[in-house]
Parts: sequence; C-alpha cells; structure tokens
Amino acid sequence: MSTKPLHSLERRLLKTLRGKKEGSRLEAVAEKAGLSLDQTRRAVEWLKAKELLAAEAENREVIMLDTEGQKAAAEGLPERRLLEQLTKTGGEASLEDLKKRFSGDAQEFSAALGNARKQGWVEITSVDGKPVAKGQAVKKATLEEMFLSKLAREGGVAEADLAQDEKMILKILEKRPGYLKRKEEKTVKISLTSQGSEVAAGLGEEEELDKLTPDILATGKWKGHVLRPIDVEAPAPPIYPGKKHPVQQFIDEVREIFVALGFEEIEGPIIQPSFWNFDTLFIPQDHPAREMQDTFYLADAKSSQIGGGERVVQSIAQVHENGGNTGSRGWGYRWNVERAKETVLRTHTTAVTVKYLADHRPRDARVFSVGRVFRNEKTNFKHLDEFYQIEGIAVGEKVSMRDLMGLLSRFYLKLGLTKVKFWPTFFPYTEPSLQSMVYFENLGKWVELCGMGIFRPEVTLPLGVKNPVLAWGGGLERLVMLRHGITDIRVLYDNSLSWLRGLPLCR
Ligand code: PHE
Repeated sequence: MSTKPLHSLERRLLKTLRGKKEGSRLEAVAEKAGLSLDQTRRAVEWLKAKELLAAEAENREVIMLDTEGQKAAAEGLPERRLLEQLTKTGGEASLEDLKKRFSGDAQEFSAALGNARKQGWVEITSVDGKPVAKGQAVKKATLEEMFLSKLAREGGVAEADLAQDEKMILKILEKRPGYLKRKEEKTVKISLTSQGSEVAAGLGEEEELDKLTPDILATGKWKGHVLRPIDVEAPAPPIYPGKKHPVQQFIDEVREIFVALGFEEIEGPIIQPSFWNFDTLFIPQDHPAREMQDTFYLADAKSSQIGGGERVVQSIAQVHENGGNTGSRGWGYRWNVERAKETVLRTHTTAVTVKYLADHRPRDARVFSVGRVFRNEKTNFKHLDEFYQIEGIAVGEKVSMRDLMGLLSRFYLKLGLTKVKFWPTFFPYTEPSLQSMVYFENLGKWVELCGMGIFRPEVTLPLGVKNPVLAWGGGLERLVMLRHGITDIRVLYDNSLSWLRGLPLCR
C-alpha cells in the first residue's frame, strides 16, 4: 500500500468515491466532493500516479440548454412572466392591458397565455363584453422550471442519468422550439483501484490541515486536526541560485581563518620592480628564476622609482655584493641597479610581504595576503600561468620554527586537513626552509602545499627589521582542487556551467 502522505484534495476525493463500485463522472464527483473541476482534476492526476485511482475517457450524449432555454432559465418561462405581470396589477387585467405589459411578441403572448391557463394559473372571463384575465401569485416552481434550472446549474446531463419524471418533462420541453439541444460530450469516468479502495476505507473522518499558519497556531485550531505530513523526498525541479565561484568562496574562507587567528590582510600591486620581487629577497641577479622563460617582464617599462628609499637600495646592493653588515659574505658579484628596475608581473606574493616589512619595520606583526601571481609556464593539467597564492608572516622577538609549523597545522586543521608533515627544502630567502605536506585521504597520498621558513638576515636587516620573521606562501588553487576532487586545474577557470551548477552552495 502507498505510504506517501496524501494531500487534502486527494483525501476528499477518496472519501467521495469510497464504496462506489462503478466509475463516476468527474464533474459529478467534483460536485459531490464540493471541489472545483480544477482541484478535482489535479487530485485525479496525483491519485493516478499513486495507482489509487483509474480514469477512463468516455463519449456520451448530453442534453443542454439552447438559446430560448437559457433565456427562460434566466428570466423565467413566458407563462411565469405573464402571471407576474398579472399579479402586479392586483390579479385582474384586461387582455389588452396584459398584452402591453408582457415583454414578447403576439405569438409568444398567446403561447404564454395558453400555458398559464393549462397550469390553472390564469382564468379568462368576460367583463362588459371584454376578455379579462384573473390569477393569483403561484410561488411553487413547476417541474419544467426545476428541470431548466438543473440544466443551467450542471451544464449538461445524460438522458440515462435522469429520473423518471425528469424524462417526461424532457419530452415536453423538447417540444418548445429552441429550448434544448443534444450534444456529444467527452467526459472522464473515475473509479478507485483495489489499492485505492483499501486506502479510502482506512481514512479517518478527521479533517486534515495542509498548512500551519500563524492564525491556526494562535486560535488553537490545530488541536482538533491532523496536520498533513510533508514528503520531503518528493521530486522537485532543480534550481540553480546564484553563488560565488568556488575559488572566490575558498579565498573568503582563507581570509576568515587568518583573521580569526589574529592576522591582518595586506595588499600590493601586481606589477612590481624586480627589486621587490627578487633583489630584496636576496635572489641573485643571475638566478635562473629571473630568466625570461620563468618571469613575465614588461617590455620597455623600467621603474624610475623602485621605492623604499636610497638607504634601502644601498643596503640591498651591499648585501648582494658582500653581505653588508648582516654577517653574510653575500653573493660576491657587482649588483646592477638597472636590473632591479626591470618591471615584472609578480611571480609570488612575497614581493608584497617584503615591501610591507620595508614600509613598517615591524617588531611584532601578523599579516597575510591573497593575490594573483604570474609565471611564464605552459598551462597544463597541473599548471596555470596565472594563479593565486596565500602568503603571510609572523614577526616577534621570540617566534620560532615551532610556531610556524604550529600555525600552518592550525590553518590546515581549520580547512579540515589533519595529517600534516614538514620537510626540509631550499629558498634563497629563508633559513631554515620547509615544505608542508598534507595527506589527502581521498587521493591516498601526500601533497606538497606550501613553502616556508625564517627570513634570512640578508632579507630582514637591510629593511630595518630586527626580530625574526616567520614566512610562508603557497598556491591556493591546489587546495580548491583537492576540496572538489578535481584533477585538472584548468577546470577551475573553464566556467563550465554544468560543473559550477553541481557545486554545493557553501562548504
Ligand atoms: N614564495 C615562495 C613560492 O612562491 C613561497 C614562500 C614564501 C617560501 C615565503 C618561503 C617563505 O613558492
């Protein structure tokens, strides 16, 4: 038996059909159930889908009102109209006078008079040699009148459905020209299936409420009623509300995590002099990462000003050439300011970080940034030439590698990643340097996520920063890919509607 909850319309219909062996016309059922045809049709469709009801189309001949019949149903039969005029005069009028009062032609008048006499409503006598009509008001409707109003109400009835006396009246009325007509009509006959009969038999008499409204709650009406259960698994059309792109969603999430950890967001330009992208980070001017094939240089765009002030530029030159006063021996080559002025699309957000250090010379700080970086690489399933990095630093007198590892572990934990390990690696600007690896259960493998370390004195001292600086940075898209189970990074920026629509609204 069906266990799906029933709508109140369905219950009404089932109860109306309860116990009926034969099919019933939909219109008749609607009337009996006190429902509109529309409501009935809907309930029929639902019950059919649940196999509780069967419907069969049928053609039949129906009797309907024709034009004269419609008029009579609305205004009254001619004999009734005649009697009304007569009673208005006080019950007695000369035929001449009555004819004038009657709306209709001479032929209609004599027919009306004939019928009124046949009914015994009107008597003709002669007063002073002139015919005079007499009659009293008659309230009771005749069988003909009742039949006409039934047709007006129901639209059409089949002869087979008529009672015996109605069949007689039908014969009489059909003699009046233009009163009735016969027409082929399509109807639907509905009946309960055996399953439907069972369900109908089990229905209680209590009225069901479809909706719980504030009014029902306030008046306490709910007490005596049963609330219709809602089928939360009922199929519904899919909707595709607007939502943020998964990459943007992730960026927002990362921001929230760092802000919650007490970090402040910083920003910087995408176009940078090589000075901030490379030189301040103690990357020698002949380092392979600076080669054209790795970095996008802006043609003919040299920064006349590299910012930071002459003192910082001088210190950087010294650090590269001989270590300056940092205790380092430097790289031992002649530093060229012209190369530092070459403009690049930043290859990492670390350019933003060092500029921040130079501008603020913080003793204590926790800042992060999320931004686009650019690398001159062929795009493939693993690489894009333009992507996002997440980057940050923590500055303080007593900060250590332990803090850095703890911080990153906390960050991953907040993203739901629990298995993290750290691996030694190399960057020209940090010492020691680590790589964080995170284990992805669904891939069954460790994935490299982020580089980090403590900025070398060659980086911090020329900028005027005395305390140790913990720094980390890594790609963002890889994390988004892992979250959504994507193996090709290009999918993130394809903007394939079907893929975007299938993503959850939020995490
Ligand atoms: N800049 C490095 C990269 O692009 C990441 C990094 C940032 C490493 C800060 C150490 C310290 O991969």
